[in-house]
Amino acid sequence: MEKVRIGIVGSEFAANFHAEALERTPYAQIIAACSIDAASLKRFVKKHHIPHSYEDYNEMFKRPDIDLIHICAPNFLHKKISIAALNAGKHVVCEKPLATTLPDALAVVKAVKRTGLKLMYAEDWMSAPAILRAKQIIDQGGIGEVLYVKAKETHNGSHSPFAQNKKTCGGGAFIHLAIHPMAFARWIIGCEIVEVTGMVNGGADKNFVHKNYGGEDWGAAICTFENGARAFIEGNYITHGGLDDTVEIYGSEGSIKIDLSMGSPLTVYSRTGFGYAVEKAETTLHWTRPAVDEEYNLGYVTEIADFVDCVRLDKQPPRGLTAEDGACILQAIMAAYESAAKGKVVKLKPLFPKAKKAARKTRKAKK
Ligand SMILES: NC(=O)c1ccc[n+]([C@@H]2O[C@H](COP(=O)([O-])OP(=O)(O)OC[C@H]3O[C@@H](n4cnc5c(N)ncnc54)[C@H](O)[C@@H]3O)[C@@H](O)[C@H]2O)c1
Repeated sequence: MEKVRIGIVGSEFAANFHAEALERTPYAQIIAACSIDAASLKRFVKKHHIPHSYEDYNEMFKRPDIDLIHICAPNFLHKKISIAALNAGKHVVCEKPLATTLPDALAVVKAVKRTGLKLMYAEDWMSAPAILRAKQIIDQGGIGEVLYVKAKETHNGSHSPFAQNKKTCGGGAFIHLAIHPMAFARWIIGCEIVEVTGMVNGGADKNFVHKNYGGEDWGAAICTFENGARAFIEGNYITHGGLDDTVEIYGSEGSIKIDLSMGSPLTVYSRTGFGYAVEKAETTLHWTRPAVDEEYNLGYVTEIADFVDCVRLDKQPPRGLTAEDGACILQAIMAAYESAAKGKVVKLKPLFPKAKKAARKTRKAKK
């Protein structure tokens, strides 16, 4: 296959960074886009020179010249659109979370198996260059055994009306933001989460700041892994000054700190302000640290190029980015909500024990 031909569902924030990353991938061609917001769709197709547009994704899925669908629509639609795309014979890139409930996530996994098509779970942190470099150092034994990970994604609130609504988001800041560090911790520690203790402030008038949001504006969880490692995961909408994605990894022989979003090599002082500093930053006045190639540094460019290659070269999704991974991560997120509601530790049952057994057997055979 020369080029992978793509249809995008959604035309706003995530759709734009997917389109921009696809434009940087020589093996991708965006054929069509779909959105229920006609004005936004018009702006989006014009900006990215996309030849065809649709208001109904099922109509777009009928096009025989599309191989891969990118789902950049609100969380509550991920299951429905993924299954519809798979049933139409298309491979899928699905933005996080895989779904808004665990049964829905498992229904997506089932549809992937039934159709034999690929679903790439879009979690950008694992493609961020700083994180890939940290993983390389860990794989070389540079910090010994990973014992504890402390990681968060925080900012001052979502721009998306769908994310502010608990029903269309599946929760609040915890599912929407903390899902990134949760996925990262599971991947870097390299085994499943077995226990979660969560705490969230309850949404609406129980929120610190965003009383108009249905879901929580602060949430955190402590996770225990199969091998005894621990992670402290946080997501909040009460952080001023821009997107703050930070990670600390503590190992038996050393530690690593990563600043994904604020670690710019640029420091600027401006009395007048300028166009843009970093995602969700409120101002460009006075001292700022403007991002340099934010899309690359947050992982989107590498992630999307790898997904396109999965279809082009018939490869499996890399780095914990399968539908099964998406389901396991959502299980831990939901366990944190359950723990917060019940005020106790929640134990997780393995979701795919057969697959794990088979992987262990293959690893043993290789040795
Ligand atoms: N990986 C990341 O860092 C990251 C960042 C932001 C958003 N996201 C994810 O991307 C997804 C979209 O988020 P966003 O911030 O772009 O939201 P948004 O509200 O800015 O955009 C949602 C888009 O979906 C469209 N839409 C809604 N219902 C639709 C339907 N039935 N059919 C077709 N289009 C429909 C809307 O018109 C809009 O264009 C979410 O799942 C979110 O979790 C991921």
